[in-house]
Amino acid sequence: MQLYIDTASESDAREFARYGFIDGVTTNPSLVASTDSSYRTVVETLADAVDGPVFAQVLAEDADGMVEQARTYDAWADDVVVKLPATRAGYEALGRIRADGIEAGITVLFSVTQAILAAKNDATFVAPYVGRLDDAGEDGLEVVAGIQTAFDEYGFETEVLAASVRNRRQATALYRAGVDAVTLPPTVLEAHFDHHKTAEGVAGFLSDWGTRGNPIESDD
Ligand code: G3P
Repeated sequence: MQLYIDTASESDAREFARYGFIDGVTTNPSLVASTDSSYRTVVETLADAVDGPVFAQVLAEDADGMVEQARTYDAWADDVVVKLPATRAGYEALGRIRADGIEAGITVLFSVTQAILAAKNDATFVAPYVGRLDDAGEDGLEVVAGIQTAFDEYGFETEVLAASVRNRRQATALYRAGVDAVTLPPTVLEAHFDHHKTAEGVAGFLSDWGTRGNPIESDD
């Protein structure tokens, strides 16, 4: 599976990249707008910070504008994946961008039917929004699992990338469902590490070891 960090922050990307389990960075216009940098600088900086793709979303609302932005983003770094919204223009742009050989998929996606249209247009990924579905009174996990099942049944290569994941409970449910990829904000990634019994156990081992010193030292 793929595990991405959902951020436009260079320091967060570098912080988590050092552990080795991050496969790339996803961004969205809101995250990029929260920085003081240009879109290009954010993409270039994140590409330098993390091994793996940087996902960057277009802001044009028409297909021609989306295609132009996608081609421009693609030239900013070696491994850019273009995010297109699940609008009619987004689907039209997707077909054209994929025909160019540029990695691209559909985001702001909330249903199995939207996901099927993306996979039919050879999307690199679809990004269903788990948290926003739950916010709207729907079952985000059920939608994501339904997309995953449909893609597996049909043999689509389009990756299911669960986004808008707000907490460890949602992340755990996605892992149990065997979803292809999950992107997580730094706060939720941070929460993955912690368990009070781990902290307690480690403290106990160190206390029992006491003052016996470095374990790699021998008796001779
Ligand atoms: O990057 C897209 C998605 O992860 C946004 O999440 O929390 O704004 O719904 P959220």
